[in-house]
Amino acid sequence: MNLASGLMKLGLAAVIFTYSSSVFAVNPAEVKKGEYLARVGDCISCHTAPHGKPYAGGLPMLTPVGAIYTTNITPDAETGIGRYTESDFAHALRRGVAKDGHHLYPAMPYPSYAKVSDADIHSLYVYFMHGVKPVRQSNKASEIPWPLNYRFPLAVWNRIFLDKQTYQADASKEASWNRGAYLVQGLGHCGACHTPRGLAFQEKGLTHASDHFLSGETLEGWSATNLRGDHNTGLGRWSEADILVYLKSGANQHSSAFGTMTTVINNSTEGMTTEDLSGIATYLKTIKGTNDQHQKPYQYDPNATLAQFKTLTNYPGARLYQQYCVACHGQDGKGVAPYLSPLAGNPAVMDPDPSSLINVILNGSPQLKAQGVAAPFNMPKFRHMLNDTEVAQLVSFMQTAWNHPLEATSAQDVAKIRKLSPSAH
Ligand code: HEC
Ligand code: HEC
Ligand code: HEC
Repeated sequence: MNLASGLMKLGLAAVIFTYSSSVFAVNPAEVKKGEYLARVGDCISCHTAPHGKPYAGGLPMLTPVGAIYTTNITPDAETGIGRYTESDFAHALRRGVAKDGHHLYPAMPYPSYAKVSDADIHSLYVYFMHGVKPVRQSNKASEIPWPLNYRFPLAVWNRIFLDKQTYQADASKEASWNRGAYLVQGLGHCGACHTPRGLAFQEKGLTHASDHFLSGETLEGWSATNLRGDHNTGLGRWSEADILVYLKSGANQHSSAFGTMTTVINNSTEGMTTEDLSGIATYLKTIKGTNDQHQKPYQYDPNATLAQFKTLTNYPGARLYQQYCVACHGQDGKGVAPYLSPLAGNPAVMDPDPSSLINVILNGSPQLKAQGVAAPFNMPKFRHMLNDTEVAQLVSFMQTAWNHPLEATSAQDVAKIRKLSPSAH
């Protein structure tokens, strides 16, 4: 054995030793826990491109100043986060700062993840280092033009808007409420879509202490409805059980998930434990309404609604509804819950912002899949069948029918959403 081959063997032994010691050092239960938390955080939905490898990044996210691309968070050492220490990882998740020190755009929901506990960060880190397959795939540069692509103003943004404290349990509340609050405000980042944003793209409230928290916002052409206690446009008429069933299966007696919420159900909430989902439901039901408390709570009256429908058949929207929609959603607007969503009294239909209604008619909805079972029906797309005026007439009709308070939608509103979603499906 010459010196070179001796050294090679020694090197090989060292590699094997490092490899096996790192394998033995990993606790499989920790990896499993991290995998579950990654699902709660829905990391996969953003960090995976359509038809791409899990967590390898490359999904474009639209911002008002140009598209940015999510990054590779597989443990590949060259192109992913393989060289991140646990502290680098914690810094990226809770402070929005990458290993090389550059600031992340808040399209990464780090203002919510700032609430995540050290123990959960640890499990997530163990999962990403040992439970995720490394993928060699370089990150794409953002399309934000110079000089807006300078990242240093983000440090100032963080100083103003980032709350650095992890979740602090409220001792006056039960464990299940605290668990729900921790998940909703933190890893679940529900507010990233459901809380209104200010001029600097900051969420106007990160906890229930703010009246803005979860009161509804429109992102990428979908209105993420109010999740507060408002009785018509919020969850006021939903029981805790209704919320749980919705998050577990994607549909309940009031509504079905569509638009970006379908991804949240498919990749995240459907896989959450019943205890965690009950905690979320318990917590959400304690957030008081702030938007429509002055209105009367909606009540379904089959006779009144049918009479109203008949007088509306002179309206073009009612005729279109009869032609294209009635087979699935029914003249009484009740559909066949939970398979064909009811429209009467549905908070998504009573939402004063028509974006989601327009979008779902134009583009349909992606396939809902819960517990490995695909939903039997899907909302079809009418993009090529109906023009902007017809879609506006349909939306205006739904906003008036079944005792809904009148809101008229214009063809211009439809044109805007049509333009925003040109390549959808
Ligand atoms: C709503 C979309 C979204 C979700 C959900 C999301 N991320 Fe991100 N993440 C991003 C975007 C966008 C970037 C890149 C931002 C930039 O380039 O400024 C990013 C960047 C990162 C980075 C920095 C890596 C690098 O080299 O740029 C890490 C680490 C990371 N995310 C981890 C996670 C983990 C772990 C989760 C789940 C707990 C998660 N992300 C969930 C959008 C998301
Ligand atoms: C990526 C954006 C996004 C995230 C993140 C998100 N949602 Fe949603 N959500 C939406 C959109 C858009 C809608 C409206 C479409 C619909 O009703 O399915 C919605 C609807 C809902 C509804 C139905 C409300 C109704 O009145 O019909 C519930 C309940 C809900 N979300 C709960 C949550 C919870 C809890 C979380 C956090 C665990 C969450 N969402 C995170 C986008 C999001
Ligand atoms: C083949 C049956 C079918 C037809 C026809 C149909 N829909 Fe749907 N629609 C659905 C299903 C199923 C959903 C639930 C989302 C999903 O899983 O795709 C839905 C969802 C919706 C929603 C969102 C409400 C919610 O809570 O899910 C609206 C609004 C809607 N449809 C309006 C219409 C209108 C207007 C028409 C006619 C232009 C129409 N639908 C035609 C099956 C149908």
